[in-house]
Amino acid sequence: MSGSRIDALLSEMTLAEKIGQLNMLAAGFSVTGPIIGGDATGAVREGRAGSLLNVFGPSSVRDIQRVAIEESRLKIPLILGFDVVHGHRTVFPVPLGEAAAFDPALWEATARASAREAAADGVALTFAPMLDVSRDPRWGRVVEGPGEDPFVHALFGAAKVRGFQGDALDDPSTVAATVKHFVGYGAAAAGRDYASTDMSERTLRETYLPPFQAAIAAGCAAVMPAFSDLSGVPMTANGPLLTSWLRREAGFEGVVISDYNAVAELVAHGVATDLAEAAALALRAGVDVDMMSGAYERGLPDALSRGLVTLAEIETSVRRVLQLKERLGLFDDPMRGLRDQGAAPLLAEHRPLAREAARRSAVLLSNRNDILPIAANPLRIAMVGPLGDAPTDMMGSWSGAGEARDSVTFLRGLREARPDCDIGYARGVGVDEAEEGGPDAALELARAADLVILAIGEARDMSGEAASRTGLDLPGDQANFARAVLALGRPTVVVLSSGRPLAVPWLFERADAVLATWFLGSEAGHALADLLTGRAAPSGRLPLTWPRSVGQVPIFFGERPSGRPASDGHYTSKYIDLPTTPLFAFGHGLTYGHVRYASLSVEPSRPRRDDAISVSVELANEGVHAAEETVFLFVRKPVSRVARPLLELKGFLRMGLEPGERARGVLTLPVSALAFPGPDLTSSVEPGDYEILVGPSADRTRLLRQVVHIEEGGA
Ligand code: BGC
Repeated sequence: MSGSRIDALLSEMTLAEKIGQLNMLAAGFSVTGPIIGGDATGAVREGRAGSLLNVFGPSSVRDIQRVAIEESRLKIPLILGFDVVHGHRTVFPVPLGEAAAFDPALWEATARASAREAAADGVALTFAPMLDVSRDPRWGRVVEGPGEDPFVHALFGAAKVRGFQGDALDDPSTVAATVKHFVGYGAAAAGRDYASTDMSERTLRETYLPPFQAAIAAGCAAVMPAFSDLSGVPMTANGPLLTSWLRREAGFEGVVISDYNAVAELVAHGVATDLAEAAALALRAGVDVDMMSGAYERGLPDALSRGLVTLAEIETSVRRVLQLKERLGLFDDPMRGLRDQGAAPLLAEHRPLAREAARRSAVLLSNRNDILPIAANPLRIAMVGPLGDAPTDMMGSWSGAGEARDSVTFLRGLREARPDCDIGYARGVGVDEAEEGGPDAALELARAADLVILAIGEARDMSGEAASRTGLDLPGDQANFARAVLALGRPTVVVLSSGRPLAVPWLFERADAVLATWFLGSEAGHALADLLTGRAAPSGRLPLTWPRSVGQVPIFFGERPSGRPASDGHYTSKYIDLPTTPLFAFGHGLTYGHVRYASLSVEPSRPRRDDAISVSVELANEGVHAAEETVFLFVRKPVSRVARPLLELKGFLRMGLEPGERARGVLTLPVSALAFPGPDLTSSVEPGDYEILVGPSADRTRLLRQVVHIEEGGA
């Protein structure tokens, strides 16, 4: 359909039909799967809904799309949206876990696979990627994004958009991506979901906007404003950011879709008195589609007659929605990509990728005396703890159309991998409640074992939306249970599942090894077995700083220097009861090899502004096992007009090294990447010295350092 055909359609539409295109309704879920809500069917027939969320699968989609294209007056197809956040039928690791792989190609591949599965189920748009930088693990939604760093977010976001959208949206195996939640949501006060956010213009521009800029540059089709307000202006009504920044500065041309019920919530935010005002504020700020609040349907006609909006403003949004339908090829093929009723979803085909992603998302945090990988001889293994055989929890929050019966649990994976071992299992304790019969059977099993695997952590609904916590400890009675197991003195490996770092220093002091597994998805158990048995070397690295205590939060490597840096002196920037350093730095993660870094070389030492700096470092694997290493490249400008962060991430590189192997890793840093907003917030590369720091994590004591100099006014 051409632009003039969209014009023709617009000229035929009644006001109610126009507003209908801006109305997104949710269909409910029944216990057996998604159902079409009666109301939604009626609304679709009457042209009062232009898109739906939470409807998927061949029969539901066929039924509702038929109502739209056969029974509604103008026969406009629906957009069906769904939260395909880390997989659809196949569940990949949660985003925070997948970020630990530090591999844009993997990030893209899992989004591509998710898009294929979702599109085959009739989904045309996903509400992902989520790019909310978060430095506060109390906030439950930290699990939905790639951690604390804007550079990682930008690469992750662009990779996800490429993966979801493919080369063009008219390819029926793609889905339109919606980058969310625009913007600042991850800075919720005190880590409490939906709470207010406030930040300087500089922080907004340096940290929170660049990920969105990257997703938009990658062609992201839609943007979702956050529920939260930014310095008093709710994002759903934030004209300066939704229009001036998003459309004018960032050049976004797609559709803005509100979050669930967010338009009506403008009343509770205290910026609108009624639905008409709420609707007018959102529409005029740039929100095209009202997800599920009914404010556009009920409030816009009134707003129009009160002069709060114009018909032209409504039509601008309708046009954007119709253009997206056109880009998706829905006018030509409303059943776009939908599989036949009997055709199987693509789960089996995507399991190898899910296993690889899961393997590469786990982070080996400690491995005392190289207890891992486990010995090759037959062993008596005791798996204990509530997450050892927990198929539902393996999926994490936002598990799409995933089903627990398709999850391979840790127990199953290990039993399949080591049939020569006697592997017993006892829960011992629930995640949040006592186990019937108490922990005795589990302690008995552990006492008699050669190796204990303690599978503990959070249940999947303890992170994600509306799942903030004030503590970063082990929930329920798990700490007591873990202490009792560790007190047995058996060699013990902890498999820690969680949607955030857990501040449990005592666990790391006592356990022989700890593997952070986040929520690894459908192939969790196979991936765990690959790593524990040494069939694969662990390679995940922390995408966020792991605190010692919740009292250190927010803690992140990109903080600014203090005039009184922490030292032995009393009047310095520190705590009197704990070190200021984290338990594990951003980027930390062990592999089975032992890698030494040497001879950093940075060329040229006085680069011109259009140069690319070549940074190389020698790595040597001095261990007896293969190593999968990730090398991080940071910069710091020690003196500048506006104090710069202590470290800024500018690159990373992954390298595999056989035992005894030595190799040089080479990273390229364009001088233009050194630009930052000056005192007037205009971005430029300031002249002067820049430290180039390379190493295995953001722990400064482990970084090699060289200095380059940029000339004043140099070409
Ligand atoms: C969440 C969004 C999500 C939407 C639709 C909201 O509650 O904040 O992230 O996309 O629901 O499910």
